[in-house]
Amino acid sequence: MTKRKIAVITGASSGIGKLFARELPAKFPLDEVWLVARSEARLFALGEELPVPVRIFPIDLTKEGCLAPLKRQLEEEQPDVSILLNASGYGKFERFDRIAEEDAAGMTDLNCRALTLMMHAVLPYCAAGSIIVNIASVAAFQPVPFGAEYAATKAYVLSLSRAVNKELRPRGIRVLAVCPYWTKTAFFDRANKQSVITHFDCMYEPAFIVKKTIKAMRRRRDYVVPGFVAKATHALTKLLPHSFVMKVFLAQQKLKNK
Ligand SMILES: NC(=O)c1ccc[n+]([C@@H]2O[C@H](COP(=O)([O-])OP(=O)(O)OC[C@H]3O[C@@H](n4cnc5c(N)ncnc54)[C@H](OP(=O)(O)O)[C@@H]3O)[C@@H](O)[C@H]2O)c1
Repeated sequence: MTKRKIAVITGASSGIGKLFARELPAKFPLDEVWLVARSEARLFALGEELPVPVRIFPIDLTKEGCLAPLKRQLEEEQPDVSILLNASGYGKFERFDRIAEEDAAGMTDLNCRALTLMMHAVLPYCAAGSIIVNIASVAAFQPVPFGAEYAATKAYVLSLSRAVNKELRPRGIRVLAVCPYWTKTAFFDRANKQSVITHFDCMYEPAFIVKKTIKAMRRRRDYVVPGFVAKATHALTKLLPHSFVMKVFLAQQKLKNK
């Protein structure tokens, strides 16, 4: 019996994850999409508009044992997870010692721990041709003062994704890290409440990030940096000493590193 092909999408209630949920069923052969985020109402509303059956998992991914319902469904139904798209994540931009303990734990719990455990949970159900897409950030390429922990979580995502991609080659499974520049989403509603980072020289549309990622999903790359400004930033972080890159960033943001 052929297994049902599913995509599991975290962060599906908003921004980049929501757009992927809309695009993936049109671009890949999928029998079902499983949507994960905290906001049940927004996931249901999204489910109504998708052209394939949808399963909703209203889960706070920072809570201990939160993946139990999803893991139970996987075990019962034994689907073929042909796509895992990890888009849940958030950042707080403030001096590290001023970040609330809840967020100091939350950023690492969501951006790193939950993403890792989600990969670990679906891999037994992945087959040759399956792909895991992890949304990192251009912040992964350099230390970012006043976004220190957020950038560190994204460096983790990039490093984990690229190394696991190599490890899984014998199984024919790919892992792709996506490194977007500033992107117009609700990310900033959460980041900006106490954010000291206010200068955004360029803002990409989330649809552009999704389009470039889908293109990269069809290629053999292990990471993608969508857009010219993002690529230029990436190149500079490779060419210039990071101490200088951090100075430029602080000057751009008009922040003093006292
Ligand atoms: N926007 C940017 O400039 C930018 C740039 C580079 C990288 N990124 C990365 O892109 C990814 C998508 O972000 P976005 O820009 O699309 O922001 P967004 O619109 O705020 O989406 C974030 C998603 O994460 C989910 N989420 C947040 N906390 C959660 C929790 N505790 N448990 C489960 N789900 C949770 C949110 O859903 P609920 O609130 O319903 O839980 C939402 O669906 C993130 O990893 C972000 O770090 C963003």
